[in-house]
Amino acid sequence: MRMRFKPYARPELNACPFSASDPIAHKGSWHHSFARPAQPMYMELGCGKGGFLSRLAVAHPDINYVGIDITDKVLILAKRNIDRQYEAAGRTPDNVKIMSLDIERIYNAFDRRDTVQRIYINFCNPWNKKAGHKKHRLTHPKQLLLYRDFLADGGEVYFKTDDDDLFADSLRYFPMAGFEIVWKTFDLHQDEPDWNIRTEHEQMFTEMGIPTKALIAVKRELPAAPAEIIANCKKEETRMNKQAIHTPNAPAAIGPYSQAVKAGDTIYVSGQIPIDPATGEFAGSDIVTQTRQSLTNISNILKAAGAGMENVVKVTVLLNDIADFGAMNEVYGQFFAEPYPARAAFQAAALPKGALVEIECVAVV
Ligand SMILES: C[S@@+](CC[C@H](N)C(=O)[O-])C[C@H]1O[C@@H](n2cnc3c(N)ncnc32)[C@H](O)[C@@H]1O
Repeated sequence: MRMRFKPYARPELNACPFSASDPIAHKGSWHHSFARPAQPMYMELGCGKGGFLSRLAVAHPDINYVGIDITDKVLILAKRNIDRQYEAAGRTPDNVKIMSLDIERIYNAFDRRDTVQRIYINFCNPWNKKAGHKKHRLTHPKQLLLYRDFLADGGEVYFKTDDDDLFADSLRYFPMAGFEIVWKTFDLHQDEPDWNIRTEHEQMFTEMGIPTKALIAVKRELPAAPAEIIANCKKEETRMNKQAIHTPNAPAAIGPYSQAVKAGDTIYVSGQIPIDPATGEFAGSDIVTQTRQSLTNISNILKAAGAGMENVVKVTVLLNDIADFGAMNEVYGQFFAEPYPARAAFQAAALPKGALVEIECVAVV
C-alpha cells in the first residue's frame, strides 16, 4: 500500500536529536556523531518503520546503530518507534542515528573512515518484475561493491527476505562481490536463532505462510576488479534471462533452435509451419487449414510461455503464394482481437517441406 505524504515528518525529524538531517555533511565523521565514538557501528539498510532497529539498538547500548531509509514518511515512524522503545527502557537514544538517504548513492554519505562492522538488509524490494531492474536490489553486486568501501574487512552482512528469486540470486551475488556466505537457511523460523528480531515485513510474510530466507556473509578479498565483477554479473544475468520454451502441443524443434525463447518480458516464437504435433504431418493441404494450424501452434507455444495471443505485438507471415493472402487473412482475423499486432506478410520463394504458410511472432508479457 502506498503511504501518503506526511507534511509533519520533515520538521519532526529535523527537531529529533538522533535524526541526521544532512547525512552528506557527516561523511567521514559518523563515529564522532555518537556519544561513545569508540564503539563498533552497525547499519540497517531500508530500516522502514524501525521495528527491528529500535529493539536492536535499545538492547545493545555498547554498539552504535545507523538506520537508513529513502523516505521521510517511513522514517518518521522509525523515529517514533525508537522514541517509544528508549522511553520504555528509561534510556536516552544516544547510540542510534536515522537518516533519509538513497542507498544506491550511499557513497555520498559514507566512506572508509566510517567503518561499519555489520550491515543488516531486511526484506528489501525484490525488483523481480523486469530483468533490467535487478540492479536496484540492495544485495546486487553493484551495491555490495559500494558497501565494501566502509564495511570492515571480516565485517558481516545479515540478510533476510521472503522472496525465493531474490534469495537464490543473492546466494550468487555475495560470492561474486567477494563475500563468503558462512551461514544460510531457507526457513529462519524453523529453528529460530535467539539473535533474530522479527521485522514488520517478516511478521507479515510469516502470517501469510511464507518462510523467511536468511544468510550471513563475511567480507573477504575481492575476487576481481569491480568493473570485471559487474561485467560478469551482466553476462550471467543475460544468460539466465534467456529461457527456451518447450511444449508437446506444437511441432518439436528439429534443429538448433527452440520453439520459442523468453528473454525478460519478451517471447520470440520461431516460425511455425502447419504441422499437427499429434501426427507430425501437415494439418491439411489448403491455405485455410494450414493457417489455422500454424496459428494454433503459436497459441500453444505462447501458452507454455505463460502468455496468449493477446500478448502478441508483431507477426511475420510467409506465404508460398501471395495470392493466398486474402484466405490467410480471414483465418488470421479469428485469432487476434484489437488492438491488432503489427504485421508483415511476404511471398517466399519456398517454405520448409512445401508448406503454404509459415508464421512467426514476438509477444510481450
Ligand atoms: C519492504 S520494506 C522493508 C522494511 C523493513 N526492513 C522490514 O523488514 O519490515 C523496504 C524498505 O526499504 C526502503 N528502500 C528501498 N529502496 C531504498 C533505497 N534505494 N534507499 C533507501 N531505502 C530504500 C523502502 O523505503 C522500505 O522502507
